[in-house]
Amino acid sequence: WQSLERMDLRGKRVLTRVDLNVPMEGGQVTDTTRIDRIVPTVQAILARGGKPILLAHFDRPKGKVVPSMSLRQIVPALEQALGRPVSFASDCAGPEAESAVAAMKDGDVLLLENTRFHAEEEKNDPAFAAALARLGDVYCNDAFSAAHRAHASTEGLARLLPSCAGLLMAEELQALDRALGNPERPVVAIVGGSKVSTKLELLNNLVAKVDHLVIGGAMANTFLHAQGYPVGHSLHEPDLADTARAILARAEETGCEIVLPRDLVVARELAPGAAESFVSSHDCPDDLMILDVGPQTVSYVDTVLRQARTLIWNGPVGAFETQPFDAGTHALALKAADLTDAGGLVSVAGGGDTVAALNGAGVADRFTYVSSAGGAFLEWMEGKDLPGVAALG
Ligand code: 3PG
Repeated sequence: WQSLERMDLRGKRVLTRVDLNVPMEGGQVTDTTRIDRIVPTVQAILARGGKPILLAHFDRPKGKVVPSMSLRQIVPALEQALGRPVSFASDCAGPEAESAVAAMKDGDVLLLENTRFHAEEEKNDPAFAAALARLGDVYCNDAFSAAHRAHASTEGLARLLPSCAGLLMAEELQALDRALGNPERPVVAIVGGSKVSTKLELLNNLVAKVDHLVIGGAMANTFLHAQGYPVGHSLHEPDLADTARAILARAEETGCEIVLPRDLVVARELAPGAAESFVSSHDCPDDLMILDVGPQTVSYVDTVLRQARTLIWNGPVGAFETQPFDAGTHALALKAADLTDAGGLVSVAGGGDTVAALNGAGVADRFTYVSSAGGAFLEWMEGKDLPGVAALG
């Protein structure tokens, strides 16, 4: 792919795909991370004499105009982040968008309405992609976090206009390549979350690529159950016992050490402040549930991390949204941050819950790289080609 810095943008209309799918409550943006992270790209386009025309989706309106999903409500937060006014066109294609683009002067920034208000966007309809392409001279994709979608604005456009990766896209691709494509070894992956069924492809890909795979969260319960240990009334997937055993067998073949919890934090229920106790991972009592990894597990993972050069992390290792069951995730996050600070570890994390957990532990900015992507990060970790990246060439 071509980088933004190598494109001639002077006087050009730069159709820039960004991800403005930000959390909102009562019409207010509650987390501006994604907005903040596109600022360098927009500033770079302006500095190079281009006209940034921002194209994005918001939520899942399924091809209908849904006023509560209008990108208009993002304008104030975008203006604040950019420190300049942003104009808005209430359609992303057609006459309205064309006249808004025609009216742009040097230094202007234009945001177009939600691409998903048109059903053709998600169908990657060629006529719709062509209508979008008429608005620009150059296409810049800065939405790594939407690159797993083969939509008109993420994939189709790259085939119609001279294209480049925005600064955030380039940063994401470089950081992820450093963590899994071409990493310094040993590599440790920490994978948590609730279901083995949603992360099967991920686990299968990782056992072939990493040296140590730490499995936490309710996913680990399925593995403990598959090994014949009691899991009380913990969340687990008994139907996937064979699959879990197959993953363990594959890891033996590839020489990947699978690290399962050695001790557990258990309680009667998942409730804030519920009375917790600590048990061996082989002894979960029948009337309790597993809600976090215990201190012995944290200490063993710390030993593994100390010998590692690269960490890639997706998914909390406990029920981190409910205290005190965030302790295991927080302790591991702190250890990873300390090792990163000391210069020994490249640490890369991604996925919505993971980033929320690292923020909760106050260490997100001490990781080498925190991806802005959720689903795209997971698909990339699964070893899949992302259509939005592939189309950039
Ligand atoms: C995200 O929020 O992960 C991206 O914006 C993609 O959104 P989607 O899952 O609705 O395609």
